[in-house]
Amino acid sequence: MSTSAADITAEVLRRLETTPDPRLRRIMTSLVRHLHGFVADVELTEAEWFEAIRFLTETGQMCSDRRQEFILLSDTLGVSMVVDLINHRRGGGATESTVFGPFHREGAPHLPFGGNIAAHDGGPPAFVEGRVLDLEGRPIGGARLDVWQTNSAGLYDSQTDTPDDLHMRGVFTTGPDGRFRVRTVRPVHYQIPSDGPVGGMLRATGRHPWRPAHIHFVVSADGFEPVTTHIFDAGDPYLASDAVFAVKPSLVATFVEHATRDADAERFGVTPPFWTATFDFVLQAATHA
Ligand SMILES: [Fe+2]
Repeated sequence: MSTSAADITAEVLRRLETTPDPRLRRIMTSLVRHLHGFVADVELTEAEWFEAIRFLTETGQMCSDRRQEFILLSDTLGVSMVVDLINHRRGGGATESTVFGPFHREGAPHLPFGGNIAAHDGGPPAFVEGRVLDLEGRPIGGARLDVWQTNSAGLYDSQTDTPDDLHMRGVFTTGPDGRFRVRTVRPVHYQIPSDGPVGGMLRATGRHPWRPAHIHFVVSADGFEPVTTHIFDAGDPYLASDAVFAVKPSLVATFVEHATRDADAERFGVTPPFWTATFDFVLQAATHA
């Protein structure tokens, strides 16, 4: 009797049975089952197999200390969001999480209440402000907000001609009243990098590379589960078709335009027109295993 594909699958699975770490055994067994099942399902040709190898090779070669094409691939296939949803089943009104994305950087400046993360950007001024609260609605003082977004041209600092400069980023700490205020510019929708293999995949599948306007936050405080999330602009045309599937309705905030002078805004050097968005982050208490 000749060897079948199922025989090979069974033999690979048999050899994995000796994997000492039970978690690794479970992961490898499932991976092989699904991978072999996928290849059998689509009856992968040798040319397609080679194309897949080429694609993954190119994805790796595209990565550098400023470009993470594998995270982009995971994001655009919706895998990052599935991992996020499995790992952060929050309840009781805690702020929902979303993708981390490939553009966070360490070393952002620590800024005071109302500090400007967009000091070198000419976009429409905006304040994003609110509170960090616990599940009972009590303010959390000393909470840390790590904030980043693109400039008005839709580029993160690492994508500009001065990639070493940190811009459009800051770290804020809430006062005892749990309040924070970020001075920035109104976020814009932007294209994910599409000059690499992920861009090729999007074009081949008839998809666009746009992400709706958003600001990234990681909010953390002692004794609480940190949350990695975004605030999305309610007025954005790409809210329903985010290239990385990251939009959750609870994360959408309205940016309100202000056309008249405002003493509070002027204290922070802002004259009309400017925009404000209000968003409260709610953290749940840390669970200890
Ligand atoms: Fe982003």
